[in-house]
Amino acid sequence: MPIIAPSLLSANFLNLSQDFEMLNKSEAEWVHLDIMDGIFVPNLSFGVPIVEQCRKISSKIFDVHLMISNPDNYISVFKNAGADNLTIHIEVVPNILQSIEEIKKHNLKVGIAISPDTTVDSLKDVIDKIDLICVMSVYPGFGGQKFIENTISKIKDLKNMISSFAKKPLIEIDGGVTMENAPYILAAGADVLVAGNTVFKSKDPMQTIKLLKNIS
Ligand code: DX5
Ligand code: ZN
Repeated sequence: MPIIAPSLLSANFLNLSQDFEMLNKSEAEWVHLDIMDGIFVPNLSFGVPIVEQCRKISSKIFDVHLMISNPDNYISVFKNAGADNLTIHIEVVPNILQSIEEIKKHNLKVGIAISPDTTVDSLKDVIDKIDLICVMSVYPGFGGQKFIENTISKIKDLKNMISSFAKKPLIEIDGGVTMENAPYILAAGADVLVAGNTVFKSKDPMQTIKLLKNIS
């Protein structure tokens, strides 16, 4: 069964405690928190204070996705705010191996994200050192976008790359996941589904999470 990680970016910022009441009772194991700085991506979302406040009202795994231009400077900040997983973009760090080590030093699960134009091959030197690969299936910066279809072949390529590993990183798909494409994403080999609009814009978010969870 997949891990479901609803993306808070699509939640109701006027009443996050109500959304967390739902999330905490739901079958979602993770909550995906999209941090955007308006530089790496053309959008600003939310920052440390929101993560800190949400941490007080949920024991779910906080899957923090840093879409910021200098993530190395924020590793301890988001650890202290309550992150469990910390995902940084391979496109922005000067020394990816150093960044990975630094995240591990803070006892965080390490995620590396690749944007749609970044090949899976760019992960070859780090793929055996990380816990999570976040494959962006939309151009980072906004929720509610359309799934980029060639992500499916990226998942299959990654699955092959890690097939011989004793400790396999999880493959997380982030962006444009729907009830319709989720079965194909999972069949290709994904482990984690991030879902923003599909969950929070649905009539019954908790039921939508349950349906996503039970796609075989
Ligand atoms: C986009 C974010 C995604 C997004 C997912 O930059 O990284 O996590 O919020 O939202 P949906 O599922 O609506 O595409
Ligand atoms: Zn994300």
